[in-house]
Amino acid sequence: MCGIIGYIGDKKASDILISGLSHLEYRGYDSSGIALMNNNNVEVYKAQGKLINLINILKEKENHLLNYNIGIGHIRWATHGAPSIVNAHPHTCCFNNLTLVHNGIIENYQEIKEELIKEGYNFLSQTDTEVAANLIAKEYTKTKNLLDAMQMAVKKMKGAFAFCAIHKDEPDKIVVAKRNAPLVIGLGQGENFVASDIPAIIEYTKKAIYLTDHQVGVVKKDSVEIYDENDNKVENKIEYLPFEAMAISKMGFKHFMLKEIHEQGDVVRNVLSGKLLQIDKSIKLDEFKLNKEQIKKISRVQIIACGTSLHAGLVGKYIIEKFAKIPVDVEPSSEYIYRDTIADENTLVIGISQSGETADTITAIKQVKQKHSHIAIITNRADSTMARLADSLLPISAGIEVSVAATKSYMAQLISLYILSIYLHEQLGFSDFKEEIQNLKQELLELPNKVEALLEDTENIKKIAKKYSNFKDFIFIARGINFPSALEGALKLKEISYINATGYGAGELKHGPIAMLDNNMPVLAILNTGIVYDKVLSNCEEAKARQARLIGVTNYMAEKDIPLFDDLITIPFCSDLISPAVNIVVLQLLAYYISEYLGKDVDQPRNLAKSVTVE
Ligand code: AGP
Repeated sequence: MCGIIGYIGDKKASDILISGLSHLEYRGYDSSGIALMNNNNVEVYKAQGKLINLINILKEKENHLLNYNIGIGHIRWATHGAPSIVNAHPHTCCFNNLTLVHNGIIENYQEIKEELIKEGYNFLSQTDTEVAANLIAKEYTKTKNLLDAMQMAVKKMKGAFAFCAIHKDEPDKIVVAKRNAPLVIGLGQGENFVASDIPAIIEYTKKAIYLTDHQVGVVKKDSVEIYDENDNKVENKIEYLPFEAMAISKMGFKHFMLKEIHEQGDVVRNVLSGKLLQIDKSIKLDEFKLNKEQIKKISRVQIIACGTSLHAGLVGKYIIEKFAKIPVDVEPSSEYIYRDTIADENTLVIGISQSGETADTITAIKQVKQKHSHIAIITNRADSTMARLADSLLPISAGIEVSVAATKSYMAQLISLYILSIYLHEQLGFSDFKEEIQNLKQELLELPNKVEALLEDTENIKKIAKKYSNFKDFIFIARGINFPSALEGALKLKEISYINATGYGAGELKHGPIAMLDNNMPVLAILNTGIVYDKVLSNCEEAKARQARLIGVTNYMAEKDIPLFDDLITIPFCSDLISPAVNIVVLQLLAYYISEYLGKDVDQPRNLAKSVTVE
């Protein structure tokens, strides 16, 4: 959460900082701010709310800012203190010479603040960042050197941070530091960049250095120096960035979310590419580093993830247990952390994360790593913190996902889990399910076309979205492998439309939630051909008997059952096993169009951030 950016070179820094922040807005949008330096003069501009408010302030300063070629910027997702101007970054120390932007949480900031107050320091905001700025400034009074001051200060701080600092007396540098929050330094010709994430700098450079935890760096326009936690200089490890600037354009779609929903056919093709070639050939998964013998020793699987990624994990449980016959537990990372979890060297732990930067999942992974379990990470960011913790890195290559609501990354996670399940089955040498596996492979290969066929005609979904957009509450029901689809469909709806939506296993309806049903509480039911069809249908009858309006999402419905439903959305025919990957497209579109009709901010829903980097 929160995005930070830095620029040092000969160009107008404010333009580069604003452009960078616009690509980091997905990380938070409670306030934004920049600090610009010209020789020994620093100017700070801040605005509450979306970035556009800051842009409007800067418009009046266009010419004045021409000669400011160094700067740092921030976009905030509020943790300490309300989203106000006074709490907005950058924060300046009380000597008014050091300015700081920060992503993360300083856990011991209260203690530090109390000490600083005793020594005469004063504070304007409620933020932990202002405390950090003053602590670094205090060290500067001793060292008279920004690098040394940062190195001394970070040793006194607990928690997570990515920092960019500038000092009036050292107008040729930005000093950066990282611990448990992402930070990348982009390398240019006569100019350098700092950012929380690649989209902020990809239009300027494809070369970068990823800072690792506990490193501190000095970024000048012609050089970058990095130091480890013992203050020793380390070699710069330059990497080439995997994205094209193109990937962060809307390509003519009204919102990133709609564009990303429409990319899902290709996303499936990408994930399958090189792994599933023909239905009668075994899955190739070189990224999975356990050999046959080691796989045979796996006694349990634990999947840890949050939000949408957690829902993908629930589908994973269903297919891994079916094909690999290994018990699977799926748990939100935030719960996994605070339990005596049982894992050992025969446990396969699968961390799933679109961003690879979700703090809860990172902590959970670090914790279980100590138990010598094998860590497989399914992520869309092969350059992320989580990816670096992986024993087996399974990148999903969905391309950068900008909209806060995860769509194509969920699809890619599902497909990766299908692939992994079949791979485990084949490596374990099971001879059952032969036909079912071949059919599943065939369906995986056909899936891109089915998804694209569904996306070709969305009129019915739009119509239904309009009809139901004014309801305040929704229930989503399904059973079996689509139970997670109900959870994910409800999550998509609530996060972008703010409608109260809850997913239930359809069988659970009569154990409580049914009490809420009346004609103001629409029920969306997912019914696919398969063993649970009749059961879900009975649950729909029960809902109808309580006057609930029923929306059916189905791949096939018998004529006699159709009248039960007020509205019906039919997906291309597919097996129950693969249907979560098709049903979800309908649910994403429904949430999208409802949010659109309600005039909500689809790509940047309130209170959320794409990358949840605080626990
Ligand atoms: C998805 O639409 C949400 N924005 C959210 O639930 C997200 O899936 C969750 O925060 C986990 O993020 P991750 O996949 O990057 O770890």
